[in-house]
Amino acid sequence: MYELIPAAEGPQYDAEAEQRFAEDWPEFIFHDEGVTPYRERRVEYFPDWEFYLVAEDRLIAGCWGVPIAWDGTVADLPGGFTDSLARSVTSYEENVVPNTFVLMAAAVRSDEQGRGHAGRVITAVRDRAVDKGLSQVIAPVRPTLKSSYPLTPIETFMTWTRADGLPLDPWLRTHVRLGAKLLAPAPASQTMTGSVEDWEKWTKLAFPSTGTYTIPDGLTTLAIDREADTGLYIEPNIWLRHA
Ligand SMILES: CC(C)(COP(=O)(O)OP(=O)(O)OC[C@H]1O[C@@H](n2cnc3c(N)ncnc32)[C@H](O)[C@@H]1OP(=O)(O)O)[C@@H](O)C(=O)NCCC(=O)NCCS
Repeated sequence: MYELIPAAEGPQYDAEAEQRFAEDWPEFIFHDEGVTPYRERRVEYFPDWEFYLVAEDRLIAGCWGVPIAWDGTVADLPGGFTDSLARSVTSYEENVVPNTFVLMAAAVRSDEQGRGHAGRVITAVRDRAVDKGLSQVIAPVRPTLKSSYPLTPIETFMTWTRADGLPLDPWLRTHVRLGAKLLAPAPASQTMTGSVEDWEKWTKLAFPSTGTYTIPDGLTTLAIDREADTGLYIEPNIWLRHA
């Protein structure tokens, strides 16, 4: 009933995917300048690593990732999301043989969340990676509940569990239920910079003074410098490894 298809084989879903899977993300997430130099080459080099989950011709979820070479140690992990993207593109151009799939993002359409679809996507994509010779699967995960605790260091947040021993964060929990282990914090997974006006537009807040602000959907705080006319947000994620 559910089928994971390469996005290239389902162009009829592209428009809907673009609209549905963008709506759940805060606008600032699309303004990481470190991503820009790699965006187009990623799409060109790795068309096989972008997927749709469909059921009876209905788009349910999407995900994408990149292949990298990784020696299995915490020390050799990329810095996070942006660094994974950079490593994948650079390695491809240098003919480095990849052995690891990095699951970069997954999204389930909003009217289908909470029904286990993310688990279906992760399981299917993990199997596909292993089939294609990428025996290690890792992910720089954006814990969805972290935005309720923007002042808590990511190193602390990742230790929080419920009485049953599973992570307090629901998205981490989904991964852990599927056999993933928490590897390490990625305190600087992405860096978003902009002018004060940019940030006011992205967050729909005013920032009248220089200082530190909490922002909607921010996993950490935003530092505003009015004199320099800049805002700096460094997004923390958590590295997970699938079995
Ligand atoms: C995060 C996401 C991929 C999870 O997908 P999903 O198919 O809903 O996942 P599951 O059905 O396995 O639910 C996972 C947990 O989240 C909870 N959950 C799911 N949707 C939720 C929602 N909209 N609000 C609150 N909790 C929700 C579920 O109850 C479950 O918790 P449980 O362990 O107590 O059962 C999906 O919510 C999503 O697309 N979010 C927007 C994009 C995003 O944040 N992606 C993650 C970063 S890459």
